[in-house]
Amino acid sequence: MYLLGISGGIAAYKSAELARIFVRQGEEVQVIMTPGAAKFITPLTFQTLTGRPALIDQFWVSEGEKVRHVELAEAAAVMIVAPATANTLGKMAHGIADNLLTTVYLAAQCPVVLVPSMNERMYRHPAVQDNLERLRRHGCHIMEPASGELACGAYGKGRMPEPQEIADFVRAVLREKDFRGVRALVTAGPTREPLDPVRFISNPSSGLMGYAIARALVERGAEVVLVSGPTSLRCPAGAKLVPVTTALEMYAAVMEHFESCQLVIKAAAVADYRPAAAAEQKLKKEASERVLKLLPNPDILQELGRRKGGRILVGFAMETERAVEHAREKLQRKNLDLIVVNDLTVPGAGFAVSTNQVCIIDRQGRAEELPLMPKEILAHRILDRLRPLLP
Ligand code: C5P
Repeated sequence: MYLLGISGGIAAYKSAELARIFVRQGEEVQVIMTPGAAKFITPLTFQTLTGRPALIDQFWVSEGEKVRHVELAEAAAVMIVAPATANTLGKMAHGIADNLLTTVYLAAQCPVVLVPSMNERMYRHPAVQDNLERLRRHGCHIMEPASGELACGAYGKGRMPEPQEIADFVRAVLREKDFRGVRALVTAGPTREPLDPVRFISNPSSGLMGYAIARALVERGAEVVLVSGPTSLRCPAGAKLVPVTTALEMYAAVMEHFESCQLVIKAAAVADYRPAAAAEQKLKKEASERVLKLLPNPDILQELGRRKGGRILVGFAMETERAVEHAREKLQRKNLDLIVVNDLTVPGAGFAVSTNQVCIIDRQGRAEELPLMPKEILAHRILDRLRPLLP
């Protein structure tokens, strides 16, 4: 069960969406509000979203013989306080238990995630900073507030992050850190090969698969360098982003970073060819036909396969026919440990969709066919397969 604590800040309205996300993930959610929180948003909102009454009253005792706050604390897999106001943080840091939320906190032995949210000057006050430091020492996981427009009209740091970001943070806290000590290089997205200053050759890759892998690695404790072609995605917090545009730039960035990595996952859709010359000025429209001369790009993964040493190399393959057969050949030729194949003819698989249906093939030629699933879940399935290959 997830305990979602809500204290009395204006950001409490965003916690309704957070409760919804947890419920959608299949979690049972028990909301505990401070009396102040109930002035910003009604308990009925949370009761409707979670299917359980939101608790406020400290002296509400359960029917069994157990004391209610201890019972709640024992049932919790994680406790999240969002928003966590300066007042509630101060009480938690000093062991004051004057409402149900702060009382349950003292009894909780599960991981605790705190999401401070307040006016920037309050957030920066040494009293608040000292309390956060204390809570960190007590083992709490504290999420940095976001910067931007605050409800009081000022700009600054103190905003509660978006509910989805909080949910991601919680998931990362709960994940087993089985990639701790591993340095990984992930490539993602398309490359763009310029024809002139305003035109390029590219492909519809969105970067979703590579970014999901980078995020999953960070969640599981790896250090991640993400070499990415142009995408509209947010770099996962904790990964180092190296933005590139062309295949040649990606080649250079990968060669620069791969020496220090034990694991390389190449999810990028690299263009196989580039125009022989990119015009310096915009090409003019002409009535006659134009012939484009293309040069082959270096195969980054194949080169890595040559310089592999003891590293683990994972490639992706997109095929439109005889997918497994082609992928097996690619695994051999590029000297890979695993190859993840999507068959582009399967609906819901491949470019720019949030799901994928793949087959994972290993060095022994064994093929594991996976069902259609969200790329985020697939990323973890790929890591599960990889983990035993690493020292
Ligand atoms: O040979 P093919 O392009 O199908 O292989 C796909 C795999 O090789 C992907 O993992 C992709 O990132 C990688 N690749 C590469 N450099 C290229 C072309 C593909 O690293 N120039």
